[in-house]
Amino acid sequence: MKLLVTGGAGYIGSHVVKAAQSAGHSCVVVDNLSTGLTSRIDCPALELDLASRDASAQLVQLMREHNFDSVIHLAARKQVGESVQKPEEYFLDNLGGLANLLLAMREVGLKSLVFSSSAATYGMPDVDKVTEDYPGVPINPYGQTKLIGEMMLKNAEVWGLRGVNLRYFNVAGAASQELADTAALNLIPIAINAVKAGKAPVVFGTDYPTPDGSCIRDYVHVEDLALAHLAAVDYLAGANQEFTTFNVGTGVGASVIEVLDALKRASGIDFEVAIGERRAGDPPRLVADVSRIDRVLGFRTKHDLASIVQSAWDAS
Ligand code: WQD
Repeated sequence: MKLLVTGGAGYIGSHVVKAAQSAGHSCVVVDNLSTGLTSRIDCPALELDLASRDASAQLVQLMREHNFDSVIHLAARKQVGESVQKPEEYFLDNLGGLANLLLAMREVGLKSLVFSSSAATYGMPDVDKVTEDYPGVPINPYGQTKLIGEMMLKNAEVWGLRGVNLRYFNVAGAASQELADTAALNLIPIAINAVKAGKAPVVFGTDYPTPDGSCIRDYVHVEDLALAHLAAVDYLAGANQEFTTFNVGTGVGASVIEVLDALKRASGIDFEVAIGERRAGDPPRLVADVSRIDRVLGFRTKHDLASIVQSAWDAS
């Protein structure tokens, strides 16, 4: 298939492009290069800000040139804290960009879209494993843009769009050093940077109602996540597929302390760990129920926490 990958020069997007190419698909990337790097990809790339005024017209031209089978839309801002400080930028970029993309797709009759959504849509779920039907309410503008984005795809069914929302849990790891996450905004890259600087990684709270007191998350390897996109594209290529939302996680939770223990093993360094205060807005536990993606797409992750942390360490 021929795929348009927005945000394809980013950390996750470049893993999607690599997996797609390995599976025999061809890709064209659109990216504003705000955090993306063209060195991560080996395919045609158009530098374009999807939220800009003429983005839709430029996309129409690109779509007419290439005759895409499907679009994988990852281009977005993704920092929760920044979204609280700059909500307008998040709504403009994440939803304005999606609106321009949908306008262009409607114009050319391109009707298959895989949307990069997030577990941030669930807010603070109080369940062991969260299913896609859990009536969550996002607690920050970032999560709000992702939930509204999902609604925008649903609305576009009126002109025949077939869409899939992939709600990513905590994405980490890397296929190689070139594709690694350079931003260091999440636990694993932050902890790796601390260890490399000879500092103690900080655990944000050990007084949560969890077995070791630290927060539990569902860490998913970026290479597994990339393959979930390909499964979704294949699904949409089938006849009469329904608009569907899928969690992408492993279904297995790991606490912050367990992640740091895995990092001690991966690095071979018995580093000190510092115990800090709770961070505002952290749910104690956020783990995916992955039965729907298993049942409908036949998709299962292959990497466990040790493999995720090892690959992140090796790529750092
Ligand atoms: C993981 C755990 C922290 C840093 C966020 C977004 C989510 C998604 C993924 C985009 C938490 C703890 C962290 C540190 C720590 N983003 N922590 N010390 O908050 O689960 O999810 O990223 O789609 O929407 O909310 O990820 O990596 O920030 O934190 O103890 O130095 O690690 O408190 O429990 P989070 P994270």
